[in-house]
Amino acid sequence: MDTTHSCRRGYILLLVLSYSSAFGLASNMSISNDTSGNKTDSFFESQSTSTEWGTDMGNKYIMCTESNMDIPWMISCNKSKEVFTRINFADYGNPSGKCEHYRHGNCGAKTTMEVAKKNCLGKHQCVFKVSDEMFGTSHCKKEAKFFVQVTCTKA
Ligand SMILES: *[C@@H]1O[C@H](CO)[C@@H](O)[C@H](O)[C@H]1NC(C)=O
Ligand SMILES: *[C@@H]1O[C@H](CO)[C@@H](O)[C@H](O)[C@H]1NC(C)=O
Ligand SMILES: *[C@@H]1O[C@H](CO)[C@@H](O)[C@H](O)[C@H]1NC(C)=O
Ligand SMILES: *[C@@H]1O[C@H](CO)[C@@H](O)[C@H](O)[C@H]1NC(C)=O
Repeated sequence: MDTTHSCRRGYILLLVLSYSSAFGLASNMSISNDTSGNKTDSFFESQSTSTEWGTDMGNKYIMCTESNMDIPWMISCNKSKEVFTRINFADYGNPSGKCEHYRHGNCGAKTTMEVAKKNCLGKHQCVFKVSDEMFGTSHCKKEAKFFVQVTCTKA
């Protein structure tokens, strides 16, 4: 990938982050068009990341994130002193189900859990991108997605 492309992607990520925090999800934004009338927001329609919070056990709590976004994005515990102490679930492929009831699909990259643990455990935040480059080879017929469930522990 050339540098211009990387820069543009970095810029798009910033946009995603600011749009996401303003609207929660990027999926129902109004579409912008260029002067020829071409859609310029197709990226936002096709890629999204969403997070929901699960059980709060007092000194720790569950957080789930689902994404298909192949540029870098980040998860972090709510407060700066909180860290990821457990990866309850991680599947890059075709996982299904809901937060705290995720199920593995049958085409995932075998190294996904390992990668998630290595990048997140003991940290306040960690970065993912939903791609083979990040997690290893998946064997899905459709576009692969990534579900992760983590436990954040309070300081
Ligand atoms: C997106 O949809 C949600 C719920 O359907 C709504 O509350 C929110 O205002 C919408 N955002 C935009 C930018 O239209
Ligand atoms: C862009 O075009 C689509 C249809 O092609 C239209 O629905 C949408 O409103 C347009 N957006 C803007 C910002 O003009
Ligand atoms: C944008 O519009 C121009 C002119 O209508 C067209 O030639 C071009 O193929 C379009 N580009 C995309 C990416 O759709
Ligand atoms: C973490 O933040 C989210 C979003 O602001 C909130 O819904 C959730 O209750 C918070 N959970 C804890 C344990 O702080």
